Amino acid sequence: MSEKRLAVVTGGARGIGRAIVMALAEGGYRVVALDINQEKLEELAGIAHENKLDVLVEKVDITDSETLTATMDRLADDHGGIGALVNNAGITRDNLVFSITDEDFDQVIAINLKAAFVATRAAARSMMRNRFGRIINIASVSGVIGNAGQTNYAASKAALIGMAKSVARELAKRNVTANCVAPGFIVTDMTAVLPEKAKEYAKSAIPMNKFGHVEDIANAVAFLASERASLVTGACIVVDGGQSHSM
Ligand code: NAI
Repeated sequence: MSEKRLAVVTGGARGIGRAIVMALAEGGYRVVALDINQEKLEELAGIAHENKLDVLVEKVDITDSETLTATMDRLADDHGGIGALVNNAGITRDNLVFSITDEDFDQVIAINLKAAFVATRAAARSMMRNRFGRIINIASVSGVIGNAGQTNYAASKAALIGMAKSVARELAKRNVTANCVAPGFIVTDMTAVLPEKAKEYAKSAIPMNKFGHVEDIANAVAFLASERASLVTGACIVVDGGQSHSM
């Protein structure tokens, strides 16, 4: 058994997930990045190796419940349990409510919400056994205040907040915490594709008048995953430059 605790980060290959992987590894976790993007996983493995960080990578499509569960169970068996789980993988299929197809809705729910549930269910077993666990869902400011054009996405993100609060209540006595981090607008590949006009409009709604960076989210996650956050559970840390308070 490894002396280090194991952290699993879904969607860890790039963007916010990658920054979380690096921050948790720097914080003393052995980290496994699960992602569907093999190329980005290999790139991450190379960077982690160069920086002497304890990072493993594994290609998994997290919408495949059986494979995700089997992967989580195997990781728990091989590494003395799962210490932390960060449900970070997420997608958008933005459209106005009357134009969202069943497929757009189902896909967003499958990746953003159902996979987070499946991973949580699997991780909870070893966390309860070990009397230690940190479950952190990456929600979104859209799930807190809503966002035009993101009915499906906002629904999935609000559900992640409700799920964390319920898991927090259920597992509190076993020293397992469950929290959310809700990012505002963060500069990543996901947001790079937005038109300039949409970005300017988004910035004007942020009191601090600036976009966030992946490290802003990774810092909040690193705190919640650490011993320092031992009394924090059922919380949602909003990291958005004040956007959700400015309505
Ligand atoms: P991203 O698109 O750069 O990264 C998402 C990662 O998830 C990718 O590496 C992708 O390959 C992986 N992924 C997608 N589907 C998968 C699947 N079926 N199986 C395994 N891995 C899969 O996105 P970004 O911006 O880094 O976002 C990360 C999280 O933060 C998401 O949950 C997103 O909703 C949330 N978020 C992002 C914001 C932003 O402004 N970028 C704002 C609020 C929340």
